[in-house]
Amino acid sequence: MAESMVFIVLAQISLVALFPLCMGNQTNESTTTASLSPQFYDNSCPKAQAIVQSIVVKAYSDDPRMAASLLRLHFHDCFVNGCDGSVLLDNSGTMESEKRSEPNQNSARGFEVIDDIKSTLENECPQTVSCADILALVARDSTVITGGPNWEVYLGRRDARDANLNGSNNNIPSPNSTIQTLVTKFYLHGLDLTDLVALLGSHTIGNSRCTNFRQRLYNHSGNSDIDQTLNQNYASMLQQGCPISGDDQNLFALDYATPTKFDNYYFKNLVSYKGLLSSDEILYTKSKDSMELVKLYAENEEAFFEQFAKSMVKMGNISPLTGNDGEIRRICRRVNHEDV
Ligand code: HEM
Ligand SMILES: *[C@@H]1O[C@H](CO)[C@@H](O)[C@H](O)[C@H]1NC(C)=O
Ligand SMILES: *[C@@H]1O[C@H](CO)[C@@H](O)[C@H](O)[C@H]1NC(C)=O
Ligand SMILES: *[C@@H]1O[C@H](CO)[C@@H](O)[C@H](O)[C@H]1NC(C)=O
Ligand SMILES: *[C@@H]1O[C@H](CO)[C@@H](O)[C@H](O)[C@H]1NC(C)=O
Ligand SMILES: *[C@@H]1O[C@H](CO)[C@@H](O)[C@H](O)[C@H]1NC(C)=O
Repeated sequence: MAESMVFIVLAQISLVALFPLCMGNQTNESTTTASLSPQFYDNSCPKAQAIVQSIVVKAYSDDPRMAASLLRLHFHDCFVNGCDGSVLLDNSGTMESEKRSEPNQNSARGFEVIDDIKSTLENECPQTVSCADILALVARDSTVITGGPNWEVYLGRRDARDANLNGSNNNIPSPNSTIQTLVTKFYLHGLDLTDLVALLGSHTIGNSRCTNFRQRLYNHSGNSDIDQTLNQNYASMLQQGCPISGDDQNLFALDYATPTKFDNYYFKNLVSYKGLLSSDEILYTKSKDSMELVKLYAENEEAFFEQFAKSMVKMGNISPLTGNDGEIRRICRRVNHEDV
């Protein structure tokens, strides 16, 4: 599947550099908490956002998939104890890392890029910018660099002193979840059906491993059957790289049409039954309300971009640590008292 990843988008890097804030103000003040603010580091670390952006640009030019991987980390952080940097903590004597959870194991990536950003920020302004805020910023920068919408990132989160492996296993939905489970798991974090559909539009970039959609190809309902909501030609193509057993880690584009571009092809694919994961396609096939949203975003990229920006701000507001809670980690992989 390497050929599907060879869309090099160098031209977009210069566009991003020229118009870092071209989409401007898409946030809705009333959806944000009072405690976070876009200006949080304006005095304490004025170069913070520029430093983060420059390292994301470099990481992306080395590996275009990195934009997707970084965007996903913010989601996996926010759905486990809130947006508190917990996903970044390594295993230690007292810490059970979330990196070992079912959704993260052999899957979550980009930690070295976060380390690079953190050490650069520590040189510029020591113990000022939290790891949780770095994740929120890289999610936005990764979206912009691949062609998606821009938004003002609300800042001021502090970092957790604990990880939650069980939470990582339970709060993040699986690719074979039902639509009810997806809706419930988002609702528990204050996110509604519109947020769910818009945020899943992130699957317009990045990859999934064979193991996460194999069942649709060979044994959808336990009768050696194929998922009937999967386009036949697309299914045959997938079967070539994702056999009935083995090759679990083979990678496939979540959006086969434009795999590295942040656009609305994810939704167009769902309408033509070419969604990769079951949890993607069911947005179109199992609920009338989500189907209407999928159709809207498939037809109107601007509507998708506008809602995506709003829903990202909303997701970024899940239970932040503020004030004197938590800490500003010096190294994102370790809490400060274990960093000796
Ligand atoms: C309904 C909930 C969701 C489910 C079930 C889900 C599931 C998945 C799965 C199974 C993968 C492939 C992982 C692998 O095979 O290694 C994946 C990748 C990805 N997910 Fe999701 N996801 C969900 C929501 C989200 C949200 C809300 C975001 C971002 C806001 C997101 C962003 C991504 C990105 C960008 C990738 C590609 C990562 C890469 O290539 O490294 N996902 N997701
Ligand atoms: C964003 O737009 C709102 C409403 O149009 C306005 O009140 C607010 O000042 C704007 N914020 C920024 C940072 O431009
Ligand atoms: C902002 O949010 C409020 C309350 O959720 C809503 O009534 C209003 O229409 C929203 N404004 C915009 C511009 O989206
Ligand atoms: C694990 O998380 C789930 C869902 O949040 C919860 O119901 C369960 O009690 C937790 N289990 C343990 C051992 O903490
Ligand atoms: C769903 O997928 C998980 C792994 O992602 C697997 O453990 C579980 O058995 C699957 N459930 C069903 C109903 O297929
Ligand atoms: C298909 O699924 C059923 C029910 O989960 C299981 O008993 C059976 O072994 C599976 N068949 C294959 C070929 O994996």
